[in-house]
Amino acid sequence: MSVMFKNGLVVTSTGSYKADVFVDGDTIKSIGTELFGQADEVVDAGGKYILPGAIDPHTHLAMPFMGTHAQDDYETGTIAAACGGVTTVIDFDLQQKGESLEECVERKKSWADGKAVVDFSLHPGIMDPRPEIIEEVKKAVRDYGTPSFKVFMVYDFRVDDATMIKLLEATKKYGGLVQVHAENVYVIQHMNEVFEKEGKLDPIYHAKSRPNLAEEEAIARAAKMVELTGSSLYVVHLSSMEGLRKIQEARMKGLRIYAETCPQYLLLTEDRYKEPDWQGAKYVMSPPLRTKESNEALWKGIAGGDVQVLATDHCPFDFKGKKDMFGRDDYKKIPNGAPGIETLLMVLHTEGVVRGRITLEKMVDVLSTGTARMFGLKNKGEIAVGKDADIVVFDPKQNFTITCSKLHMNVDYTPFEGYEMKGMPVAVYSRGKKVAQWNKDQLDFVGEKGRGRFIKREPFEGF
Ligand code: URP
Ligand code: ZN
Ligand code: ZN
Repeated sequence: MSVMFKNGLVVTSTGSYKADVFVDGDTIKSIGTELFGQADEVVDAGGKYILPGAIDPHTHLAMPFMGTHAQDDYETGTIAAACGGVTTVIDFDLQQKGESLEECVERKKSWADGKAVVDFSLHPGIMDPRPEIIEEVKKAVRDYGTPSFKVFMVYDFRVDDATMIKLLEATKKYGGLVQVHAENVYVIQHMNEVFEKEGKLDPIYHAKSRPNLAEEEAIARAAKMVELTGSSLYVVHLSSMEGLRKIQEARMKGLRIYAETCPQYLLLTEDRYKEPDWQGAKYVMSPPLRTKESNEALWKGIAGGDVQVLATDHCPFDFKGKKDMFGRDDYKKIPNGAPGIETLLMVLHTEGVVRGRITLEKMVDVLSTGTARMFGLKNKGEIAVGKDADIVVFDPKQNFTITCSKLHMNVDYTPFEGYEMKGMPVAVYSRGKKVAQWNKDQLDFVGEKGRGRFIKREPFEGF
């Protein structure tokens, strides 16, 4: 199957130019002006952008968590991804007690079998850091194709600082990258006790119990571990201005610390927790939503290069029956997480590019090219000859009002309900095959269940 995309604006992380793009089979075969030749399908991309498919490197598909599980599995989650222009997902794969990293990777791969509609990879989450697990890092990097490892400084399954240091040493040696959920657990435990005594249990106290300084302190501590070991570190879901400042300070010293943020931390504020009828529970995620100051600082962090990756932390739980029932009367019992995989590209385009906060090229960098580089996805993330034909035909004039009923995520709300979008994906291709198509007023999934492949990633090179 071959496809010719005619007259589109090809957007790369460094510039944009008008061209035709010819795809044969899975890959991009040629790019040029007025390309000559036959194709099975010709797409008129005049007036449209030709973007590399977005990569979401932070999802929790089907993850068991807080007495329930994230509702999107590999089928519904990757269908939603495809309909949002996300053509690669790197999913968290949390190790179970007693499991080796290999067993952990094989288990989650099996969950995706026959289900994924776009390509995916995995980050093992280290939860049971036995000595043999630290030793297994070498194989995970070199043989399993999973060179990035998640650790949590919070939750019951957190690791201690000694484990983090050992992991940083191992990843430095073998070409891996540690990813950290950075919040100070003792600050949070203390605040939880204070609010418990005072009977303050509404969703707003989720935010109050996890103040900015909890993130700031954890990032500062993790940065010291990077200084000690000379390793590299990637901070997931950065949420606060104070956390960003610690990352900037570390980077100024020459430390290799990278950061990811998510649309919710760029657009929403803690006022959402005050929505009536326990609706604030919809936004209970960790770290919590902050204030306008942090939103604006993070946009600047992206524009200035201190935040290199945009991800979603997609971890959906229905409001009805999960966020409301499980948590009612105590914010601590509300399953942490929110949906976002389908709205990533549209939101970043409207709120970032259209509003002049970042350039189109920066958007492509933080959603695709830079993400592929960070995570060793050598065939992804770029419209270039020889790369996988993961392509989004994006119409910058197409309007869309975000509403849950027109999205494909398996969840009963979106945090961005009512947001007016300017610019939408109108056709999405995964390795040369169309997976989503604009139809009247929304995208339809037109791909094939099970076509998504597990992608083995390259070791982390550092930059
Ligand atoms: O609240 C969140 N972020 N839930 C998912 C797990 C995590 O911490 O990333
Ligand atoms: Zn986290
Ligand atoms: Zn997460």
